[in-house]
Amino acid sequence: MNQTIEQHINHIEQEIIENRRYLHQHPELSREETETSRFVQEKLAEYGISVQTGFAGTGVLGIINGKYSGKTVALRADMDALPIQEQTDHSFASQHDGKMHACGHDAHTAMLLGAGYTLQHMRDYIQGTVLLVFQPAEEDAPVGGAQAMMDDGVFSEYVPDVIYAQHVWPSLPVGEIGIRDHEMMGASDRFTITIKGKGGHASMPQQGNDAIMISSHILTSLQTIVSRNVNPLDSAVVTVGTIHGGYRYNVIADQVVLEGTVRTYKQEVKSRVKERFYTLVEQTAAAFEGEVEIEYLDGYPATVNSPEWAENARHSAEELFGEASTPEVDPALAGEDFARFLEHYPGAFIWLGTQIEDKDEQMGLHDPGFKLNEAALPKGSALFAKLALDALDQLAKGGDDD
Ligand code: NI
Repeated sequence: MNQTIEQHINHIEQEIIENRRYLHQHPELSREETETSRFVQEKLAEYGISVQTGFAGTGVLGIINGKYSGKTVALRADMDALPIQEQTDHSFASQHDGKMHACGHDAHTAMLLGAGYTLQHMRDYIQGTVLLVFQPAEEDAPVGGAQAMMDDGVFSEYVPDVIYAQHVWPSLPVGEIGIRDHEMMGASDRFTITIKGKGGHASMPQQGNDAIMISSHILTSLQTIVSRNVNPLDSAVVTVGTIHGGYRYNVIADQVVLEGTVRTYKQEVKSRVKERFYTLVEQTAAAFEGEVEIEYLDGYPATVNSPEWAENARHSAEELFGEASTPEVDPALAGEDFARFLEHYPGAFIWLGTQIEDKDEQMGLHDPGFKLNEAALPKGSALFAKLALDALDQLAKGGDDD
């Protein structure tokens, strides 16, 4: 079977790279992925794969029915780009001003198309159904596109018994796959704090109420949450990323706005951090007789893999790329919309090593200079195909115990 995967991948390899370059040149932001969606639909149709549309706006579902009946495996790729001005020397750099595929979703889409081609040619090996899920709006946290696709019935006809997705990972070399049994990515919340004091002349502080002074106490107290309220063996981050306020050196500021993010893995840690956040912000402002408005947006939940399907993925990767291809990796605290699928269906999110050859030049995800190693793309397609085939095999062996 592995040889057959390889044969089909060899045949489509160049096209996977061309598709990725085309998508890279034509990035579209979250909820605007109309051309990308059209491109995906055309390619699926060209490969003879049946297509359904109308999920979360631009979302696309490809359906591959195997020769034998069986269970259902879903493979997911995200399609959207970021509002970033590209700064690479690529010949295929973004042609859309201020928009860039800086998170590799162009590669995810191209790799899933390559896997679709391969699986469509391997229907004789398939016991069951493979769903190709092309998702919009992954970058549009906290709403995202995953929940909307499910609400729009993407899994109403075929319900996944397992779902997989992969993300390009610039710190891992090509040929290596990052897989964890439990938590993989963090929960990502976002907040805005508006502190309201009373303006006045800098020389008459007793007549005003200094919002800058209040904000500095709030800022400092927020940094006690992780150090004093979270178990040191758990993980959490509270970051204030922007602070805006004030008019002039001799004017007491009547308003300060702070924006930031909270990152956690465990639900109980998130709840505790959020509880302390509200207490500290509200009561610190009250202590200084200021007023405060809090906008706290619960973002994507933590991305938590099902251990048995993570193990299966590890096995599939090692069969394709060798025993040493699945090093131990630490989880990352970035948020990921795939978490919403994993709340409903078992499965795993895995990282595909895409480090460029000159690794000192490697920029991270979301960087205007982000690049990935295209040698990884056929590997990602092969892995997607193998994950589906192995999972269906495994599910078939499981017999009637569902
Ligand atoms: Ni991403």
